[in-house]
Amino acid sequence: MLDTTMLDAVMTRCPVIPVLVIPELSLARPIAQALVAGGLTTLEVTLRTECAFEAIREMSKVEGAHVGAGTVLNGDDLARAVDAGAQFIVSPGLTPEVAAAAQRHDVPLLPGVANAGDIMRGLDLGLSRFKFFPAMANGGLPALKALASVFGRVKFCPTGGISEENASEWLAEPAVSCVGGSWLTSGRFEAATVEARAHRAAHISR
Ligand code: 3PG
Repeated sequence: MLDTTMLDAVMTRCPVIPVLVIPELSLARPIAQALVAGGLTTLEVTLRTECAFEAIREMSKVEGAHVGAGTVLNGDDLARAVDAGAQFIVSPGLTPEVAAAAQRHDVPLLPGVANAGDIMRGLDLGLSRFKFFPAMANGGLPALKALASVFGRVKFCPTGGISEENASEWLAEPAVSCVGGSWLTSGRFEAATVEARAHRAAHISR
């Protein structure tokens, strides 16, 4: 089993990891500042936009921000994300290529799993911390609880359909270390709105 200390730090610093799709580089710093001001300091920048690598670089300059890359689909993405300063890697699924690249670059990897077979393949690779994705479409909390009862030492970050309204139900499950979600910036990028949403998310009770 790989050392989970670094991943556990990523997953337990805050109850919510914002899943960020940054449309323009100029928004990167203000969004990171607003999230950190609101109390969310672990930020996942998805590699879904042109400016994602530069956004990771910019956001990493914000004091207090721990920035990782999400939607990492292969070893090349992972290498570029690490080069841009990503401190952790999130992928929607688990492949041996991404797992090997994470080990090569010595960066914590939180790969997506959707079922027992995915988790078993992850355990074979020495992994025990996973993104449960897409959480709601995969059966929601009942599915997560069923998986958690089988894999005792495994911890999850459910994402996909998690919201400000339902996050606390997920966080109450002992196998859930944190949740991820895009609602912090969905539709609105104004600093005050993002900071207020982050503040509420940072105080969601378990
Ligand atoms: C992810 O990449 O984790 C999901 O797209 C986030 O899902 P959400 O938009 O439903 O929060």
